[in-house]
Order: sequence, then structure tokens, then C-alpha cells
Amino acid sequence: MADIYRHRVLVLDFGSQTTQLIARRVREAGVYCEIHPYNLSIDKVKEMGPRGIILSGGPASVYDKGAPTISPLLFGLGMPVLGICYGMQLITYLFNGRVERARRREYGLARLSIEEPRGLFQGLAPGPATYQVWMSHSDKINVLPTDFVSMAHSDSSPVAAMRHKTLPIFAVQFHPEVVHTQIGQAILSNFLFQICGCSPSWDMRSFIEKATSDIRAAVGSDRIIGAISGGVDSTVTALLVNRAVGHQLIGIFVDNGLLRKGEAESVLALLRQFHLNVHYVDAGKRFLKALSGVKDPEKKRKIIGERFIRVFEEEAGHIGGVRFLAQGTLYPDVIESASFRGPSATIKSHHNVGGLPEVMRLELVEPLRELFKDEVRKVGKELGMPEEVIYRHPFPGPGLAIRVLGEVTPERLEVLREADAIVLEEMKASGWYRKVWQSFAVLLPIKTVGVMGDERSYEHVVAIRVVDSLDAMTADWTRLPPELLARISNRIINEVVGVNRVCYDISSKPPATIEWE
Ligand code: XMP
Repeated sequence: MADIYRHRVLVLDFGSQTTQLIARRVREAGVYCEIHPYNLSIDKVKEMGPRGIILSGGPASVYDKGAPTISPLLFGLGMPVLGICYGMQLITYLFNGRVERARRREYGLARLSIEEPRGLFQGLAPGPATYQVWMSHSDKINVLPTDFVSMAHSDSSPVAAMRHKTLPIFAVQFHPEVVHTQIGQAILSNFLFQICGCSPSWDMRSFIEKATSDIRAAVGSDRIIGAISGGVDSTVTALLVNRAVGHQLIGIFVDNGLLRKGEAESVLALLRQFHLNVHYVDAGKRFLKALSGVKDPEKKRKIIGERFIRVFEEEAGHIGGVRFLAQGTLYPDVIESASFRGPSATIKSHHNVGGLPEVMRLELVEPLRELFKDEVRKVGKELGMPEEVIYRHPFPGPGLAIRVLGEVTPERLEVLREADAIVLEEMKASGWYRKVWQSFAVLLPIKTVGVMGDERSYEHVVAIRVVDSLDAMTADWTRLPPELLARISNRIINEVVGVNRVCYDISSKPPATIEWE
């Protein structure tokens, strides 16, 4: 079996918004990459034996009190180092150059003139030809560090890239990992293949083989259960485990009565198509009963989370003799909990199955722990999952309960389901579904006045939420074409009984959130 971890590169994280992107781009080039906090010990680095190290950007200034730094010993290990933005300023500082606190922040696109079309810039044309790069920094280098030479400049950064004269240390002021830097992937590839001497070995087909044999070795002949929601992560997890140990995996699909229109049926059909051993639990009535009269969003979440665990435990009890629990934890969750910033991302507290392994004393099997979402999708594709499932938008664990604002009743759920189905249908028909992060309808807890024919009406209001986002941490409302919005609105008002008004949510996150509750 191909060794997918043969060559690896480490990213030391100084807190940039784009740290994860660096790792994703490295992996896209076919090299396994891990993110670690900037203060990872030298011993640990040696133990991992990476081919190269990338220092990420970050919000600090190197002259700040307590600014994050690294041991200069890192540069003596012989491994190539690439500093990006803050990483470059830190290298400058540690090698006795001067970083200037700029009065003006350089943010956005800049033109890069390459002075040295070798090494990092091999294959690229020297100035005056200029390349578009993306900058986001306030400090910049005004005195080169000892033994460094400049490799490129931009209008406002006299040193936009530099290298050490004898050691394999490189640095760039701009961000090669973002798409706006046209030559970004070329630069990263030069670092990986020319400078670090990596060869590509990380690919999802080999990953599947490795994960399958790892799961087999871990689970042996024991039974393993897993909650399947129909979302990409839990479904890919189940398919992988199923591939490894077949019907030793018992998938539990809890229908909490808070799913979208037709969702339970389509998820079941898919799982059956893959010959998964699935237990379907129709628990809708139990969830709705527990939610009766509850209006507070956090209370709703708590009730749904607890109820879920109870239903799941009960079902697992019927199965008996289970030792393992399969869970679709992804790499970003792992990084967040290990990050030097601490588990700041509140999104993680949303996970409803969080308490399960402790409660049930099961051992965890998490085959996707090393993967980013786009890699999980590739794995899904390799395993034959239909595109419709692979590109399904994220859906919150508490389901429609947090989209029916106020009290959740079967009638109000029905109104939302119908309106939501129209939103999805139109998003898909217009080709917009694949371009956005999430799209859905929300039922507001108020009624408003309208006219229907000659009659005054007093009916529900539906809000449409469609957002663009990279990771749900920040988001912006999608500028959908007015014609599409008009079609969605007309259809909802004409086809969904009890709705006479539709609004479009034009708030970004922050300060709003993606969901309304
Ligand atoms: P917010 O509303 O916090 O949502 O901007 C960020 C992302 O998380 C999803 N979300 C949830 N997912 N349980 C989940 O599993 C939850 O309680 C929950 N609340 C929000 C949301 O859909 C978006 O993708």
C-alpha cells in the first residue's frame, strides 16, 4: 500500500484566518500537511520528521509584548522553512532585520515584481512582468535581516519576498494560499517539490485503502455503531466503516421529526443503496412532545441533544455487545481543540452527539479526523456517493426546530417544510445551490397583514437565508439575482397555505449568525 504520509510538511500556526487554507493547498499539491500551534517543541518537530515547515500569518506584531515566537533552533534543523506574512516578519526579527510598524495597512490586491526567478519563483517571469498577489499586513520589512537577499517587491513593500543566502529559509509578505494570488499554487509547489524535495503521495484513493485497513485492525471482530444523519460527514464515515467491517457496523438513523421535506426517505434510500445495516428510529413524536411549549433556542438545543442521546442509547441497548462508536469528526475540529487560541469556535458546542462516547463508554473510531471537508467530499466521490449528497449544505443537528422561531408545533413545521422545499428547488434549478454555503427558509414568530383578492389576510412571514462562507465562522449574505428572489417569493406565497409575506435576510456574520436561533 502506498505510504500517504511519506513526506509531510508542518504549518506552525500564528493565528491567521488563512492557516487552514495553507494546509489545504499543500494537500491539494499531494503532500500531507498538519497544523500545529506555533509553540510546538523542537523535539516534537524532530520526532515528526517533516520535509519542511511553514510559518503562518497572524494578527500580532513582532514587537508586541508577548508576541508569539519560535525557537531559533528550528532554523538549525536543516529543514526548509517558508514564512508567510507574520512568519516573514518573525524571521526578519529573529535574524536581526528591521520590521517597520506601518501607519497604513496594505490590504487586498497588489502587483508583485519578481527579482529572482529561481527557487521559490522558479518558472515565473522576472519583473517588469507583474503578478497579482493578495496582501493583508500592516507591518513590513524595511531592513533585510542578516544574510538575506530580496527576491521580489511590490509598490508598497520593497521586500515582498526574501531568502537566506545559504540556509533553506524563504519568506513572502503576501499570501500564496488564497486564490487571489494567481501564482500561489506555483509558489507553494516550488517550495514543496524543488526546495523540500517532497514527492506527491497524499491522495484520497490511497487514503481510503489506508483508512479501511486501519478500521479493520482497530475494530477486529467487534460490533461498532454510528449515528447517521444523512449529512456528508456521518455518511462518508459510515461508508468507510462499512467498507472495512461490513455489517459489524450498525448505523442508527434517528428521525427526530425535525428534518426537511422528504429527507428521511431519501437518506434511507441512499443507505440501503449502499447495503448498510441501518436501524431507522422514528422518534418524531417523542421529540415534539419534549419540545412542546418551549420557545427559548438554547433550551430547544438542550432538549434535542439530550433526547437524542437517550434514543440512541436505547437503540444501542437493543443491539447489545457493542464496543465502538464511529464518529465523523473532521480535522478542523481537531485543530480547534488543540489550537493555542483554545477551543474558541462556539460552533463546536453545537454538536449534539458530543457527550455520547463518555455516556456509553464506547471507544471512538474517527476515520475522518485528518481530513478537511473538501477531502471528505473527494472520499465520498471515490466511494460512489451521489453528487447531491456530497454537496449537500450543512444542516444543524437540532434541525428545523431552530428555524421555526418560537414554539415548534407540527403545523408550523409543515409550513416551514413547504417553504423550505421551494427555496431548495429554486436554488438547485437556477444552479445557485452549488455556489453558496447554505440556503434555507425560516418561519418567523409573527403574523403580518396582507390582502388576498378583496380580503384582508393575517398570516405567517417566511425569511430566506442564503449565505456565502468558507467555514461558517464568518459569512456574508449572497447577492442572489432579483429574478430568482422574485420567483422564490411568488411560489412561497402562492403555494404555501398560511404565508403572505417573504423577506430576504441581508445580514452578515458577524454580527448576525447564519441561523436565526
Ligand atoms: P451559526 O448560526 O452559529 O451557524 O452562524 C454556524 C454553522 O453551524 C450550523 N449550526 C449548527 N449545527 N447544531 C449543529 O450541528 C446546531 O445547534 C447548530 N447551530 C448552527 C449552522 O447551520 C451553520 O452551518
